[in-house]
Amino acid sequence: MLITGKTRVCGIIGNPVEHSLSPVMHNAAFAELGIDCVYVPFRVLPESLKDAVHGLRSQGVLGFNVTFPHKIEIIKHMQKLNQTARQIGAVNTVLNAKGDLVGYNTDGIGAVEALRQNGVDLPNAGFTILGAGGAARAIVFTLAETTSRIQVLNRTFEKAKKLKREVKRKLRRDIMVLPLTKKCLTQALSTTNVLVNTTSVGANADPKGSFLDELGLDRRMTVFDIVYGQSESMLLQKARQQGCRTIGGIEMLLHQGASAFEIWTGRRAPIETMRRALASHQVKQAKDNAW
Ligand code: ATR
Repeated sequence: MLITGKTRVCGIIGNPVEHSLSPVMHNAAFAELGIDCVYVPFRVLPESLKDAVHGLRSQGVLGFNVTFPHKIEIIKHMQKLNQTARQIGAVNTVLNAKGDLVGYNTDGIGAVEALRQNGVDLPNAGFTILGAGGAARAIVFTLAETTSRIQVLNRTFEKAKKLKREVKRKLRRDIMVLPLTKKCLTQALSTTNVLVNTTSVGANADPKGSFLDELGLDRRMTVFDIVYGQSESMLLQKARQQGCRTIGGIEMLLHQGASAFEIWTGRRAPIETMRRALASHQVKQAKDNAW
């Protein structure tokens, strides 16, 4: 593409950002719709966050995504927060509204849309969420709008209890929380239709000795692992072998990205173009790795 003085800038800030696939899908989307904008990854260390945000704002960027480790810290640099970001307490998308930075969170919408697009009956399914960190919070707050059957299991039980209190206070909804032990997991899975893993356990390394070892999956379950890597996660491999419907983290990446794109441009995101760009990038990466 031709970059001129008129080209707008969009991007992602985080550390690390070099493996982010967001530039691939957003640049494909801008090209498809003929929008003169380029999406760039910016590696930003925690101590440089304030300066980086100031720089992006004064450059007049269209907006940007925020990833690890800045999703909470970025809040203090926002002029406004939308309701979802405020409830979740984290921001992954920023719109530059004529110099006012407005924080959004599209992670929950991305996950829920990935589930919907993969045929999950959202209002009637029973969900078990593993983890209670930032991503889990986004998913729980969004899911709780449509379903009342949510169980959250976390290694640090206090964090899950805090999430339960916040959901009650902010949404007036109730969720069930349990510690992430084998016994509780077995109990939770007995009433689960959809298992969502938000922890990084089993993403790449061999997760021997983790809760995945003896996970009792039923083939009628849908298993969604939000972490994406270069190969299928251990959890998804196991779920596929058991005959479960599986959803990979790329689906969440795609839908949270589509939602961010719509916030920045006010245009409907060309989802199929974005999906194809991600798929062909992954094929290319796999070929490069094979060499
Ligand atoms: P993210 O923004 O991706 O959700 P995070 O906020 O750091 O990242 O949350 C990571 C989640 O993975 C947490 O729920 C964490 O559990 P703790 O709250 O007990 O730390 C969970 N997690 C990470 N490593 C884990 C492990 N080895 N076993 C179980 N849970 C793990």
